[in-house]
Amino acid sequence: MQTIESKRRLPGGLTLPQFALDRIASAIESGDLRRAIRLVEAELRRMPASTPLRIQLAKLYEAQGDSAGAALALTRALRLSPRHGEAAACLGAILARGRLPGHATLDHAGLANCLAHRNVDRDLVGAAALHALSTEGPLEKSLEGARTRGFYSTARTLLARRAPPLLRDDLFLAILENCTIASRDIELLLAALRRVILLDIPAERLAEAELSRFVAALARQLWSSEYIQAVTCEERAALEAMPPVAIDRLLAGDASAGADHFRRSLYENPVVSLPIDVSELSFSKVRPLALGRLLSDLREESSSITGASASIERLGTISRETSVRVKAQYENSPYPRWRSAAIFHDGPYTTYLEAFFSRQELQFAKRPFEVLIAGCGTGCQAVSAALEYGSTARVLGLDISLASLGYAGAMARRMGADNLSLALGDLGDTGAFQPSWKGRFEVIECCGVLHHMADPFGAWASLLDCLAPGGIMLIGLYSRLARRHLETLRGDPLYPGAGCSDDALRDYREALFSRAADAPGASYLGSRDAFTTSGFRDFFLHVNETPTGIPEISAFLSAHGLRFRGFVNVPFGVLKRRFPGETWPGRLEAWSDLEAEEPDLFIGMYQFWLSRA
Ligand SMILES: C[S@@+](CC[C@H](N)C(=O)[O-])C[C@H]1O[C@@H](n2cnc3c(N)ncnc32)[C@H](O)[C@@H]1O
Repeated sequence: MQTIESKRRLPGGLTLPQFALDRIASAIESGDLRRAIRLVEAELRRMPASTPLRIQLAKLYEAQGDSAGAALALTRALRLSPRHGEAAACLGAILARGRLPGHATLDHAGLANCLAHRNVDRDLVGAAALHALSTEGPLEKSLEGARTRGFYSTARTLLARRAPPLLRDDLFLAILENCTIASRDIELLLAALRRVILLDIPAERLAEAELSRFVAALARQLWSSEYIQAVTCEERAALEAMPPVAIDRLLAGDASAGADHFRRSLYENPVVSLPIDVSELSFSKVRPLALGRLLSDLREESSSITGASASIERLGTISRETSVRVKAQYENSPYPRWRSAAIFHDGPYTTYLEAFFSRQELQFAKRPFEVLIAGCGTGCQAVSAALEYGSTARVLGLDISLASLGYAGAMARRMGADNLSLALGDLGDTGAFQPSWKGRFEVIECCGVLHHMADPFGAWASLLDCLAPGGIMLIGLYSRLARRHLETLRGDPLYPGAGCSDDALRDYREALFSRAADAPGASYLGSRDAFTTSGFRDFFLHVNETPTGIPEISAFLSAHGLRFRGFVNVPFGVLKRRFPGETWPGRLEAWSDLEAEEPDLFIGMYQFWLSRA
């Protein structure tokens, strides 16, 4: 735990008096955290606007195991200092460590401010914020109403009034705009609101400022979930009966053309039907204004992706049969569509890596070094790596999907990852790349990719050839045990098959949600992937996947003289509790025994570091 630094400057040029710092520091050093908390709280009463003090308070609460107290202190800090990156990152880290206790209260304005940060996992913050709104905010009543009277009736009641509290709640709007919501109840409420907006309320009402702000936020949410929500027959009929987009009238500010397009934007990406050369100025004439802003944002988003795809380097051609099929899936459905990432913020990244490797082994990071993100997809892992390894690292992301790489390039620019470059190429061909990739990379990360290749272990072996002497590797592979229900689902008569249309995907998803909670695969519906079209395709409908098991991984490591250095996504404590004699990082045999007892242990995948033995 970091302690207060005596020279820390406080906002407004104030400095904590030396005697106060000394007292707090000595309470921390003697392990009396309660006293340290009381002292910091006393200083906060004198200087309530001090963000560093609030962060310090949060760290003390956390050190005491009080995550709710820590999160409250951080949300209060973010209310006062909306742009404070450290406060946002600390809050994200607390939420990543696990759910807050049910009684936790949080500052809603602080939560809304946190959702503007890109260096935190906004979806996690959004989930905590939704919990806050559904236990102590306006969402609580609506969800209660929906459970007793139904979602459609609740949505009609909400929209019958001018500006009901939920639809103008700043936190709710910030969640809709910035997160991808992974909650079935909220999804059903939003789908019902969309239906009422399309079918039941007069077009003129879309000009009401507060309603149009809500509709724009809802359109953003539906866009980020890639329109995965079910559409009823009445909605389909109403959409088909709508006149085609009247582009000239829309761009000239015609209210009725605007209202039609606004409603359409709840069902499909509203910029797809517009000419690509529409100027920014034309969007400013669109009415309602909130629709104009939405169109402008989404257009900017898609042009930055197209722009980034245009400059991507190509390495060889993609001609292997499996690669061609897998590429087709990701060209149509790049995954994941991320908008923020939890960037490690607690000092240099090697501090984190020291949990897996010795300082000696991490010496390479002191000089310029090369990192490969193999199968980087849309770049979440690659951009995070570029920012975390820092400016001495030259990071290269390789993928077979140009659409995914375009997304990665746009996000890299947005997040300032200047040390990341991207290339289009097949991981199976690394041996033929020129200049040679042999022994080139000090770090290779390859997560969620090898199991989509024709020969996962063969591809892993060729990747090893690209590792520099003394290099380290992070591998992520699907677990056969955790994904056992996928086999059952593929044999289901309703399974629409990989490559099915989005309509068929939606129908199938609804069928899964209608099944009993203990039906095979029902537990998978809790994952975030079940709430976006590309995520659902990736998780449930992949064109090619070969999961594996710990014994095969262990045999591969032995055959190639490699050393297992620890799982990153399942805490060692879980193994230690079951097998107290195990020492870090645990023997793979013991992990395998544990997985046999808890087959969902690696539901995400096996993700682990390795080095040469
Ligand atoms: C599930 S995504 C994972 C993306 C990224 N690693 C992450 O964790 O966010 C799988 C990615 O692997 C890429 N991929 C699959 N086979 C590949 C191959 N043979 N060569 C390069 N990339 C491949 C796909 O195009 C896709 O973007």
